[in-house]
Amino acid sequence: MSILETTNLKESLSHPIFKTISEVVTNERVFVIGGFVRDLFLNRPSKDIDIVIEGSGIELAERVAKKVNATKVSVFKNFGTAMIKLHDGYEIEFVGARKESYSRDSRNPIVEDGTIEDDQKRRDFKINALAISLSPNSYGELIDPFNGIQDLKDKLIRTPLDPDITFSDDPLRMMRAIRFAAQLGFSVHFTSIAAIKKNKDRINIISQERITDELNKIILSKKPSVGFKLLFNTQLLHIIFPEMTNLYGVEERNGKAHKDNFYHTLEVLDNIAPNTNNLWLRWSAILHDIAKPPTKRFDKRAGWTFHSHEVVGSKMVRPIFKRFKLPLDGQMKYVRKMVFLHLRPIALTNPQTNDSAYRRLMFEAGEDIDDLLTLCRADITSKNEHKVKKYLERFKKVEKRIAEIEENDRIRNWQPPISGDIIMKTFGLKPCYEVGKIKNDIKEAILDGNIQNDYDEAFQYMLKLGKELKLEAVS
Ligand code: CTP
Repeated sequence: MSILETTNLKESLSHPIFKTISEVVTNERVFVIGGFVRDLFLNRPSKDIDIVIEGSGIELAERVAKKVNATKVSVFKNFGTAMIKLHDGYEIEFVGARKESYSRDSRNPIVEDGTIEDDQKRRDFKINALAISLSPNSYGELIDPFNGIQDLKDKLIRTPLDPDITFSDDPLRMMRAIRFAAQLGFSVHFTSIAAIKKNKDRINIISQERITDELNKIILSKKPSVGFKLLFNTQLLHIIFPEMTNLYGVEERNGKAHKDNFYHTLEVLDNIAPNTNNLWLRWSAILHDIAKPPTKRFDKRAGWTFHSHEVVGSKMVRPIFKRFKLPLDGQMKYVRKMVFLHLRPIALTNPQTNDSAYRRLMFEAGEDIDDLLTLCRADITSKNEHKVKKYLERFKKVEKRIAEIEENDRIRNWQPPISGDIIMKTFGLKPCYEVGKIKNDIKEAILDGNIQNDYDEAFQYMLKLGKELKLEAVS
């Protein structure tokens, strides 16, 4: 990542809104500050602009809105902020410079008016405290009292004040430090790491939604293990996600050891990251082995076993999603299905496998079969590169066979040719056990290859099943 040179800041503020703001201020000092400025130096285009004025942010927003004919100014009186959305998707937030102090049990600051310097030192990180003047007489001037530019060059996250104060003021910043490290590929300064360890329990005053938001950003970063290792080392992860830290560790008995499932999970997550930006598939990677600790047993002959961890794990998905306040509808069901099915494609690498096992899996995975294969490919990890190569080659054959079967049988979005309605009409039945049984038996017979996937053959088979159940056809 190259850092923009600081000499041509005027031209770098290319959006016309900056000139407009400059034109409507009189004597007040006004600045663009925070994430937008950081991202400007990092060449990461951003559409969120934060403006700070030594005066009233709300009044400034109203003056700017008039000038650009914005239809709406959203005012948040309690926070003293106002926001304008521009037609090109930019969102401009205005706030008065503040001097803040915090109470111990809340992250809501007690706010007083202050100068730009007061405002900068109450911000989370040096790289987020950079400001550029928009006042007419100093337009484009960089205000960097903490040498945040140097931290951008050194790829460092650290707080402007004593980190104990910054993190204790707003404990969400502990998650933010790690999230920025993960997103930007930066390090967190050791004094900040120490302060996170010390203040970790204060994360409990933060709402789950905010914590989950940061965690999801870590999960969506390029190499999510970076963030998870920091969360683990600072022990924040033990508080926010104990099921995951339970995966940590290796046990050895009679000379037999199992792998460390925490680091294995992180490897799977890193493996899948280049292949998908689907947050829910990445969550599936995190949760695929989540039930290994509760299902772990030692067998004298077989060594360590984790029988049914996919079943137990799939049952853990809903409570985890509920606690994280993640969506409980489609996305949760998708992750639950992925966890439940994650061992099945690997089982197909057995050369004895027949097509019916393939069709069955393809039917159960439905349109998510490709995602399941992506997860399983990422799950092939070992310290032995040779083994990984061999397993991947075997797995390629499974993928090829699935593609061939799909080409022939179109199982992906397949519905059995005989519906419950037809069964009920044929035998004059209301919805009941027999209807479900016949429907299921027809599906199984087709997946097993005992009858063709065709209406007439399935209809005849339905009549035969009806006879066995002593049902009489009425139409
Ligand atoms: N900020 C802070 N403490 C927080 C949140 C935000 O000091 N807990 C300050 C930082 O200066 C930050 C600015 O407010 O740069 C804007 O915050 P936000 O929009 O949440 O984050 P960005 O830094 O813009 O980054 P991103 O958009 O990636 O979240």
